[in-house]
Amino acid sequence: MNSNNLVLSVLNDLRNNYQGIGAFNFSTAEVLRGIVEEVIEEKYPVIVATSEHEANFLTLQVAAAMVDSWRKEFNWPIFLNLDHGHSLEIIKKAVLSGYDMVHFDGSTLSFGENIQKTKEVVDWVRGFEEREKKKIVVEGELGYLRGSSNIHREKMEISEEDLTKPEEAKEFIDRTGIDSLAIAIGNIHGIFIHSQQRLHLDRLREIKKIIGNQAFLVLHGGSGTPTEDLAGAVKDGITKFNFNTELRLAWSKITRQNFRDNPQEIVPYRLLLPVVEAIKKVVQEKVKILKGEYL
Ligand code: 13P
Repeated sequence: MNSNNLVLSVLNDLRNNYQGIGAFNFSTAEVLRGIVEEVIEEKYPVIVATSEHEANFLTLQVAAAMVDSWRKEFNWPIFLNLDHGHSLEIIKKAVLSGYDMVHFDGSTLSFGENIQKTKEVVDWVRGFEEREKKKIVVEGELGYLRGSSNIHREKMEISEEDLTKPEEAKEFIDRTGIDSLAIAIGNIHGIFIHSQQRLHLDRLREIKKIIGNQAFLVLHGGSGTPTEDLAGAVKDGITKFNFNTELRLAWSKITRQNFRDNPQEIVPYRLLLPVVEAIKKVVQEKVKILKGEYL
């Protein structure tokens, strides 16, 4: 297999098997370690991701070098994704730093502007691929995704207008040439304690019917979504599933507890080691769903 196309072949194989891949966000070494250790135990490929802010904390180059070290150490398919890039500039920086996948989020723009800006990203990336002989997966986004990767106490209502329209999804893919499309089907970023986070799987099926295998479908806002809905989305054609808040929650809960329980301890790796286990648990649960074990 041509290693430059490994990412495409992994995504294609999963889609053909009605399985999904997790894209887990990280901004610290112990979170990345937990994700990587778990997928290796599960013998399953993975995408790890940084948002612009998470990348700013680590720097793009350091994030890429960390991921590359793990990949080489275990010879394992671990792909690095820029999550919610908002400009061509940050996309370029991520690709030049060694990211394998980039998500351009133009979802707050008008339909026409979103197409235009996403197409600019695709054109630049295709030029890079041609020169460097390296495949970069470009993800676009269409539909209104509410929330943020945090815990929310307010109620959240999703309106019909927020959802991705099947005909627009088709036109968006045709006109931009993206590899993957993030859609809004009731998913929300974050965990909403007082709202149900149910997916409109009927809308997913309509979108899938019209776009077929023209682009991989992506679900953002995986945290807080019921297992049954995630499993349904796996079966109905989502290939990439993004998770962040549940990892952030595990990280903060365990570190807080550990610092409180061990006031004399000053060694960082002793304080942080339990985080690795907590992250592994979250990843394990999601990977089981993505493998199709709940169908
Ligand atoms: P959650 O924080 O809801 O898991 O969403 C993560 C995400 O979609 C990153 O793009």
